[in-house]
Amino acid sequence: MEFKRSHTCGQLRAEHAGQPATLAGWVNTYRDQSKGLLFIDLRDREGLTQVVFNVEDGSTDVIDQAKALRREDVIAVHGTVRMRTGGPNPKLATGEIELLAESIEILNKSQTVPILPDQHEAEKIDEEKRLRHRYIDLRRARMQNILRTRHRVTKIARDYFDHHGFTEIETPFLIKTTPEGARDFIVPSRLYPGQWYALPQSPQIFKQILMVAGVDRYLQIVRCFRDEDPRADRQAEFSQIDLELSFTSRDEVMDLMNGFLRTLWKQVLDVEIGEIPVMTYREAMDRFGIDRPDTRFGLELVDVSDLAAKTEFKVFQDALAKESGVVKAIRVPGGAEKLTRKMTDGYSEFVKQFKAGGVPVVKYTDNGLETGIARFIEPIADELVQRLGLEPGDTVLFGADSYSIATRALGELRNRIARDLDLIPEGRWDFLWVVDFPMFEWDEDARRWHSSHHPFTSPRADQMELLASDPAACLSDGYDIVVNGSEIGGGSIRIHQPDVQQRVFSILGIGEEEAQEKFGFLLDALKYGAPPHGGIAFGLDRLVMHLVGTENIRDVIAFPKTQTGGDLMTGAPGPVDPAQLEELHVRSVLPETESAPA
Ligand code: AMO
Repeated sequence: MEFKRSHTCGQLRAEHAGQPATLAGWVNTYRDQSKGLLFIDLRDREGLTQVVFNVEDGSTDVIDQAKALRREDVIAVHGTVRMRTGGPNPKLATGEIELLAESIEILNKSQTVPILPDQHEAEKIDEEKRLRHRYIDLRRARMQNILRTRHRVTKIARDYFDHHGFTEIETPFLIKTTPEGARDFIVPSRLYPGQWYALPQSPQIFKQILMVAGVDRYLQIVRCFRDEDPRADRQAEFSQIDLELSFTSRDEVMDLMNGFLRTLWKQVLDVEIGEIPVMTYREAMDRFGIDRPDTRFGLELVDVSDLAAKTEFKVFQDALAKESGVVKAIRVPGGAEKLTRKMTDGYSEFVKQFKAGGVPVVKYTDNGLETGIARFIEPIADELVQRLGLEPGDTVLFGADSYSIATRALGELRNRIARDLDLIPEGRWDFLWVVDFPMFEWDEDARRWHSSHHPFTSPRADQMELLASDPAACLSDGYDIVVNGSEIGGGSIRIHQPDVQQRVFSILGIGEEEAQEKFGFLLDALKYGAPPHGGIAFGLDRLVMHLVGTENIRDVIAFPKTQTGGDLMTGAPGPVDPAQLEELHVRSVLPETESAPA
């Protein structure tokens, strides 16, 4: 490159008029007015500048080169800044001026691009094209802004936690498995035939061992790997802001994290988030049917089991006959008009994925209750109106099943109705801590207990007894942080006594031998002077999603995987050379045709 750039494409202003300048960037658009007059908008990550080639004003030497320019060519252009001859363009930061070109250097021609980095058009381009040509997609101002916001988030995190005495330490990627509840990605070992590394689902065990090592306060902005199906807010490869502290308590962790979130929202969005309320898991489930409630709108779940018991409605009676059977109701204000029959039929289908049978519906009108089941509900109509605060025009949706099925189904439905009826206010930030999770969840299919968080989470100090006597009732010292119904982080106070850890393993059905084989190194470490400790991890990608306002996690990752886990740009996953497999002592069990490249 012969030309040295003097300014960025977002920098020149009226005060530069009359000065020479050299810009470099991509040809965003060009307009050939013929008769020796041609405009281009030159773009770099800082913005756009109009460059004009005008033979009358002295661009004679370069006009032919300029005529050959096409979108996304990379050029450097030298000339003189002048006030815009066509009048200012208030939409551009550089809109008062233009650069009258005297010479250009074509740094690289571009083929006709499959997508254009023009912001408005690109939003409509199908995502497959965006991911396949990610290097073009990332040129868009919106994507550049996201990349930089993400950078700022990590910088703010590092500064904030550094200020509070945290040391950033890297932990290994080739490890023995960590149980975060997902499937591991595994890596064959060449040097140990038949042995495998796992990629970390999180640095959980290492950060605990760093506490035993006397580090006191640990931070890592770290990639985690979980072989699970990607979703709108989930990737197999994602990042955490991962933290662990010694000699701490739940309240201290929450306080420090509140400070971090406040700093982050203030610095990135200039928003004050104020006090962050705390809710128990039980209350969250009772009122919202979900452990990450979106409290920006109403539609709360109300228990009407006692009223339902007075009806002859079989659906209610069957539900109440179940172990922990309940009938819960949601009042939808104005639902009689807003919720069509098609929608409520759709809701009955929707809840089936959560194992619920359907959603009985009644409308409350000036003439009393309506719809097919109204006659069953009639005997409790007055009490129902009172309990739910019904007004004419409202609709009531019921969930009748075991507590867990009915609450979950209505909880998911609640979020869906809020979206369908546009009930979620813009610009609100409802942060919420959820605490007092049960230690264990019963898995009916596998007929065994799982950890609600992970097996290293401690019971609350006042619940230790229950660990032996009634594990099902035992509450953990875990905490999740939620914003607008999305879980952005989770953590816990950990078990630091080997006997308690052993006891939890045994409740989880992990025998002494298996525990020794899988986590012996942690159990050993706990025996050599482990300080009480606890921590948390934020989902970095999810934090950035909220801060930049997208519901698509792929928008905040430079090179994400698709919904089906592939990388469209590189073609990963792909086959490897058979010799590579041989070296790793691995053989494919697929017939040759199936293991061939797709
Ligand atoms: P957990 O599994 O809850 O806890 O993860 C912490 C946070 O990471 C984010 N997250 C994800 N983000 C994108 N894609 C995924 N697949 C994904 N999975 C999780 C969520 C979540 O709240 N070791 C513990 C933390 C601890 O106890 O300190 C852990 O990993 O925002």
